[in-house]
Amino acid sequence: MARVPFVCGNWKMNKNVPASLELVDELLGSVGPIQGVEIGIAPTFLALHPVRKKIQAGKLRLAAQNVHFESDGAYTGEVSVSMLKDLGCDYVLVGHSERRQYFGETNASCAKKTGAALRGGLRVIYCIGETLAERDAGRHFDVVSLQLREGLTELERGRASDLVLAYEPVWAIGTGRTATPDQAQEMHAHIRARIAETFGAEVAAELRIQYGGSVKASNADELFEQPDIDGGLIGGAALDAQGFLSICRSARSRG
Ligand code: PGA
Repeated sequence: MARVPFVCGNWKMNKNVPASLELVDELLGSVGPIQGVEIGIAPTFLALHPVRKKIQAGKLRLAAQNVHFESDGAYTGEVSVSMLKDLGCDYVLVGHSERRQYFGETNASCAKKTGAALRGGLRVIYCIGETLAERDAGRHFDVVSLQLREGLTELERGRASDLVLAYEPVWAIGTGRTATPDQAQEMHAHIRARIAETFGAEVAAELRIQYGGSVKASNADELFEQPDIDGGLIGGAALDAQGFLSICRSARSRG
């Protein structure tokens, strides 16, 4: 079965609530005719509820940018899986490199978050990728293999269809420097092979692997043409409706 590409906008700490709603309005005006691609947005926590009300049960999927792995309790500043479910979230991002870099997230904490989210009925976009120093040292495949091995310890085979992976080389995020289509494809094939080893060929064949890192309208086509790239996780370029929609169309046209 062909994988349906998935393009998700990660708005990071951008757009307050009114600005988020404005962007959603622009997207809603144009997403209707775009077929053959799943489209999601990950606004700030504060905007999740009003955005959900606006998009209702329509075409756009709603993602949160983070979640805590405990179900409730004394965890000041944190948000649980069931809280996100209550708000109508479909997905949650886990292990984005900015969370690893600035907020101390590790493969182990990502494993707990991924497990809790999947058990609680939230789909997960698990983000992985190497730093520039790791790539320059020729360790990129090992780093990503470890992120998979340690970050997916709580993934049960039966829930694998609720998992999406996002390969985001840290050196390409927000830098304007994209991995070449060949570099990205090479890593995506590596990731799919590791998943096949651990979870079986069927899971690997169905798993969607997004590419992220300075994807924009002008480079989306060549990235999404690659056989193991199934859409993208889009940061900066997702803040502009027309640019984001154009990226979504590129994913669809891959066919
Ligand atoms: P970017 O961010 O598209 O701005 O490089 C991607 C991401 O961090 O998900």
